[in-house]
Amino acid sequence: MIEGDRLILRDCRLLTGEQVDIQVEEGRIAAIAPQLPREAPRELNVQGHLVSPPLVESHIHLDSALTAGEPRYNQSGTLFEGIQIWGERKPQLTRADVKQRAMATLKQLASQGVLFVRTHVDVSTPDLTALQTLLEVREAIQDCMTLQVVAFPQDGIYGEVQTAELLEEALKLGADVVGGIPHYELTREDGVRSVHRIFELAQQYERLIDIHCDEIDDDQSRFLEVVAACAIRSGLGERVTASHTTAFGSYNNAYANKLMGFLRRSQINFVANPLINITLQGRTDTYPKRRGITRVKELWQNGLNVSLGQDCIQDPWYSLGTGNMLDVAYMALHVCQMTGIEEINACYDMVTTHGAKTLQIEDNYGLEIGKPANLIIWQADSKFEVLRRRPPVRYVMVRGRLIAQTQPAITTWELEGKRLNLEPSNH
Ligand code: FE2
Repeated sequence: MIEGDRLILRDCRLLTGEQVDIQVEEGRIAAIAPQLPREAPRELNVQGHLVSPPLVESHIHLDSALTAGEPRYNQSGTLFEGIQIWGERKPQLTRADVKQRAMATLKQLASQGVLFVRTHVDVSTPDLTALQTLLEVREAIQDCMTLQVVAFPQDGIYGEVQTAELLEEALKLGADVVGGIPHYELTREDGVRSVHRIFELAQQYERLIDIHCDEIDDDQSRFLEVVAACAIRSGLGERVTASHTTAFGSYNNAYANKLMGFLRRSQINFVANPLINITLQGRTDTYPKRRGITRVKELWQNGLNVSLGQDCIQDPWYSLGTGNMLDVAYMALHVCQMTGIEEINACYDMVTTHGAKTLQIEDNYGLEIGKPANLIIWQADSKFEVLRRRPPVRYVMVRGRLIAQTQPAITTWELEGKRLNLEPSNH
């Protein structure tokens, strides 16, 4: 175990490929240089493996996590059956129930190198049970993980009379981010109005914005342009995130090209959730069947910030999931056809540095002198190798303190009575 205030990590490989030592003092990075001469009470020889800033989960729903099958599984596989099932589960929410599932999920995430998490929390229940619990969880884990809470009106702001008030109440209670779901409002006009209301609230309470936007295969679902316009006019720009935007994958190219120019002006962030949307979308198609994911590669090529999220872990929308962000990046790489070497590297950035930009936490994120010594160590030598082999995170460190380590799998061969130990990194 590595504990304490002074530590040197020897023989680290940075994401740039440089070989360096990293010195940690009082939880912060004090020096990064080849072969640091100074002695420290504790040293860890990283043996040339990759040292990276922690993984960032840009979009998850911790309030519904680990409820798959309660009260029933999603048979159609659609977003809308998921919303119905969640509506049946919601009345059973208690603080103990939400806390137990959220903590279990966060532990899964942290053990796999995720230390920064943005969770959406449904605020359409009258007592705001889930939201109040997640705000408590945010405080309880703050020494270890950073949790951002999005006030998310799952059934729309204007679908029921009390939700607009509940959304504002959630901000008064301390939610970090204002959410919305314009494509699920009762009418297009309500959807547009909801986006304007979200921007008003964000400005009034000085919060970030993250909107579930156009998560549907309908090529006429066009709230992204409304979000971009509001971001341009308000100047909120990179404080705004559009999540999912799957309809962007169905827009005709003439419209998409025009929209891309507006998006560049807006400088908003995007979050894609490829594990979920490859399964939820395209359900009304026969063949050819659409992929149902936003234009990740094209947004990235246009210089826009794109990060990735799991969205769901074992809930009414997705019964699978383990908390492994490499599953997400790997799916994005395939579904978005980002198989060039630079594109594969970008998929790694989308679960690290790009996520930090979406969450607006860049001041405290990254391997730089003066920043908190939060880092993960892979038994690999490049982003490419991490994504190709998807090994477990070997070490997870928070402010220079080791909080989790995972032993790699060891394969043993039994052959004519001889036993061979093979290096796991050569798989
Ligand atoms: Fe979501």
